[in-house]
Amino acid sequence: SFGDVQVFSLTPYEVNVTAVNPLGAASRLLPFLLENIIKPDPPEDLRVSPIPGETKKLLLEWSPPGSWPFPEYFPLKYRIRYAREEDSVTKMIGPYEQTSYTLTEVQPGTLHHIQVAAKDFTDSGEFSAWSLPASATPWMEP
Ligand SMILES: *[C@@H]1O[C@H](CO)[C@@H](O)[C@H](O)[C@H]1NC(C)=O
Repeated sequence: SFGDVQVFSLTPYEVNVTAVNPLGAASRLLPFLLENIIKPDPPEDLRVSPIPGETKKLLLEWSPPGSWPFPEYFPLKYRIRYAREEDSVTKMIGPYEQTSYTLTEVQPGTLHHIQVAAKDFTDSGEFSAWSLPASATPWMEP
């Protein structure tokens, strides 16, 4: 690992990868621009809550990864995946630019598991790994 690299550099950084064995050595230079390989850490502090009086909705709220510098100037976008407890079908939605979202048309009275992933707002690089899961159950009909 190495630090002190900068985004928006006009010339690419280069990594010299050298393999050595008894027959000799081979080198290759791998050029990259930081913004093309950027991958945020996962979103943090995901909270999922039923909405009082709403039978088919869950409110999701989360925070940007603490390691992401200046999220107000370099925003992230987020995608969400969720599944009901009893089946293995996972739905994926997004990306969205805000750090909260209301899931609608989810099954009342059924436990749902939710995760969120982050990507640079300008679509540079790749999505983060999925956040730790959070779970909640939408209210049943009265
Ligand atoms: C890459 O590293 C190897 C091993 O240190 C060196 O022999 C080679 O000259 C380097 N290549 C360049 C282009 O700097």
